[in-house]
Amino acid sequence: MSNTAHDDDWVKRPADASDGTTCTAADYERMYAESVDDADGFWAEQAARLDWIEKPTRIAGWSYDPVDIKWFEDGKLNICHNAVDRHVDAGNGDRVALIFEPDSPDGEGRTITYAELKAEVVRMANTLKKLGVKKGDRVTIYMPMIPEGAFAMLACARIGAIHSVIFGGFSPDAIAGRVEDCRSDWIVTADQGLRGSKVVPLKANVDAALEKASAKAVLVVRHTGGDVAMTEGRDHWYQELSADVGEECPCEPMNAEDPLFILYTSGSTGSPKGVLHTTGGYSVWTETTFRYVFDYRPGEIYWCTADIGWVTGHSYIVYGPLQNGATSLMFEGVPNYPDHDRFWAVCEKHKVNIFYTAPTAIRALMREGEGHVAKHDLSSLRLLGSVGEPINPEAWRWYHDHVGGGRTPVVDTWWQTETGGIMITTLPGAHDMKPGSAGRPFFGICPQLVDNDGHVLDGATEGNLCITRSWPGQARTVYGDHERFIQTYFSTYPGKYFTGDGCRRDADGYYWITGRVDDVINVSGHRMGTAEVESALVLHPKVSEAAVVGYPHDIKGQGIYCYVTLNAGEESSDDFAGELRQWVRKEIGPIATPDHLHFTPGLPKTRSGKIMRRILRKIAENEFGSLGDTSTLADPTIVDSLIEGRQNR
Ligand code: PRX
Repeated sequence: MSNTAHDDDWVKRPADASDGTTCTAADYERMYAESVDDADGFWAEQAARLDWIEKPTRIAGWSYDPVDIKWFEDGKLNICHNAVDRHVDAGNGDRVALIFEPDSPDGEGRTITYAELKAEVVRMANTLKKLGVKKGDRVTIYMPMIPEGAFAMLACARIGAIHSVIFGGFSPDAIAGRVEDCRSDWIVTADQGLRGSKVVPLKANVDAALEKASAKAVLVVRHTGGDVAMTEGRDHWYQELSADVGEECPCEPMNAEDPLFILYTSGSTGSPKGVLHTTGGYSVWTETTFRYVFDYRPGEIYWCTADIGWVTGHSYIVYGPLQNGATSLMFEGVPNYPDHDRFWAVCEKHKVNIFYTAPTAIRALMREGEGHVAKHDLSSLRLLGSVGEPINPEAWRWYHDHVGGGRTPVVDTWWQTETGGIMITTLPGAHDMKPGSAGRPFFGICPQLVDNDGHVLDGATEGNLCITRSWPGQARTVYGDHERFIQTYFSTYPGKYFTGDGCRRDADGYYWITGRVDDVINVSGHRMGTAEVESALVLHPKVSEAAVVGYPHDIKGQGIYCYVTLNAGEESSDDFAGELRQWVRKEIGPIATPDHLHFTPGLPKTRSGKIMRRILRKIAENEFGSLGDTSTLADPTIVDSLIEGRQNR
């Protein structure tokens, strides 16, 4: 099986892909041209599928210089109405909105119809109101993958509060930083979460976070029933507080540009940024991308394995599917518990039609052999998706052949927290696929490749990926710091949005994402700023200096490689390495656990003191032959000692 990407390695889309509703090749060409030539007309038409309290007349209202992004700015709507109430009003209240599959196959699952979802969201919304939450307030959601997580998001949207969901794997310090940054006075959490039978102490983590940050109230959903401490006057059990709330809660009319949510994400420098998405554009973008990319047909079961703590969960577990009236499966557990066939067991059990996961999960399951897949009847699957990192052709083929039985198209969807939804992908009925390539731009997306000096590169070429025109789902700002938004995304190549990714475009106009070109690494599809890991390391009293880089990792895509210099007089040892690993987990969370700790007496620096990361990356990659010019280093001998250290591990 080849793992090399080839421009002419085509995989045909199924001949019967079109049943009259699917976007065909001709539809794509026509609609793409229209979306670029007449953006206002095109997006007004897409937006018309949603219910608006006031229909927008101003559609695209954006500028990249100065940076001011607005869409549908005189429109009014509520995304919770479009995701929930609208389907009940249309007589589809009995349709299943959410299927909950618990961590253990023996646990209690749940199916929730749209009518039940409405009742649950109203209950949560009225409980939040009872705690004093109002339009514009920030509410932190730190939840396991249970339906109440989605209820909480939708409840915030319903009453106009801005949610900030924090991934359940983050540490108390990470929670505290995020709660403080957006001055969120309310936190919704659960007693505990479950992942692969392991207990995640969510409430205890919130308690620890609130020793460093402050909140008026914590709403705790009882989930596992485990023992947790409750602080009188601050902490409330959801099940108790919600017992007597009313059964009505109208959707707050929101201006299209009113904030919907904040989601923290890592960048090259500094602490994670609170990326802000607003109501109208995000609604239209997630509704439209879900509809066309997943080619959803009523009655189908759709499963995205992401966590609601990441943007994929926001856009493609909650808002995209529900706005389309789809049935979205929420899975609390992990792919390898109780065994490596869990994903496929769940697909069989619920007759999943559309399955969307990350390359890291595919590679991990591929390693366990196809026997786990073969045990299950996966004939319900019609479409597979991939997201989060580049997928290597070998994993793509395995996914297509073994999971999809060679029948199902695979959509490799490239996008980012900042883009709100899918940007580059093939469409299942319109495009043949190439394993390893994300494919073509979605409607309205104008990618451009530039060299390091900003010169535009035409034709088949490779460069830095920019987007030249705004799209409805684009993030509007960094919460509380618009200057940082401009600096991060619009200053490298003025007048363009810079994605931070490298990319190749082939002669067929297909895009191949090559990975980040900045100091961000992608570990198992999770975005990590190397600076964040460095800050955590140097907080340890024995550490003097640290430099962190990514290196290729068979399963995770990239691993975390840390060069660490200890204070004078301190000795490294295996025990200390273990302690330092634990330290980083405690500071950030398990996803930041270093894969390699390389203790070194010094780091390669220029005479002005700048660490030469290029060299550190090459050494971590075991590429000693191509270190480039090392003559500008203050102490060139350090390189030999680093190479020796690398070879000895
Ligand atoms: O490097 C790209 C990679 O993930 C980054 C965005 O990470 P995040 O904001 O956490 O969002 C992840 C889920 C959308 C991108 O800059 N990435 C995402 N999808 C792909 C990808 N790289 C290659 N192929 C993809 N399909």
